[in-house]
Amino acid sequence: MAEAIKILAGNSNHALTEGIAAYLGVPLTKCQVRRFADMEIFVEIQENVRGKDTYIIQSTSFPTNDHMMELLIMTDALRRASARRITAVIPYFGYARQDRKPGPRTPISAKLVANLITHAGADRVLTLDLHAAQIQGFFDIPTDNLYSAPVMVRDLKERHDPRNLMVVSPDVGGVVRARALAKRIDAPLAIVDKRRERAGESEVMNIIGDVSGKSCILVDDIVDSGGTLCNAAEALLAKGAKDVSAYITHGVLSGGAVARITSSKLKELVVTDSIQPTEAVRVSKNIRVISIAPLIGEAIARTAREESVSSLFD
Ligand code: R5P
Repeated sequence: MAEAIKILAGNSNHALTEGIAAYLGVPLTKCQVRRFADMEIFVEIQENVRGKDTYIIQSTSFPTNDHMMELLIMTDALRRASARRITAVIPYFGYARQDRKPGPRTPISAKLVANLITHAGADRVLTLDLHAAQIQGFFDIPTDNLYSAPVMVRDLKERHDPRNLMVVSPDVGGVVRARALAKRIDAPLAIVDKRRERAGESEVMNIIGDVSGKSCILVDDIVDSGGTLCNAAEALLAKGAKDVSAYITHGVLSGGAVARITSSKLKELVVTDSIQPTEAVRVSKNIRVISIAPLIGEAIARTAREESVSSLFD
């Protein structure tokens, strides 16, 4: 494997990249991603990559646009250095929430970003828990959408009594994702249904399912401001839930999100390291980070050997 593939790190998540390289037993390819005085990005790959199977690890997390440009410029550098194949490994795919036109004269930014990555020269994409599965179809190059569910299920089974669990989707849009996890642990499913009956009236949270006495596990792809999560936790506790924890793939955690979650009634929030945890996340008393490095490492190994990636999730 060591000779066959090359792993390159953007600046978004060095810890994850090192974890992936360690899993694969491959040293990171020497590569500099620097800034000029005016903050333009400059990339220099300092090893021969001609004819190599290459993987750029870069989450397009905050600062999203900088990390996106780094990914595009690294892809361009690899293409011009005659890499045989370039895979953009994007554990957190930014702009994914802009996947349709919510109103007239608005963009579909997820599609634009897919076009940019493809035009820069990527041959394939490897990503994780896309906000909407159909974003896979925005790419005309092979795109594997991995699932963090096996990693979460392992953690859940180690820490919770499966007999009293109830998996909960914090909104109607996340039901498919939550149902898939509920099926894996053989737990029932409840749904938080947010409704605003009339314009100007405050939102009402209806819970579909009986959560009383249950240890509820909220499942979602993104926690950003933490509003969705904390409101759902309040509503579940108000309906008699015993306690509420959450398993969420991408800890975007913008602004005051960590403080909001720390002071909420949430027992624990578990996120993956698809986005590099900030210091505030690392010291938070009720946020825990689990690593998806082995999962992504295994998907890269299988891609390199031309083996099935989907069988990772059977
Ligand atoms: C929305 O569709 C997503 O799945 C998340 O529920 C949302 O992005 C969470 O955002 P926030 O934490 O800001 O409420």
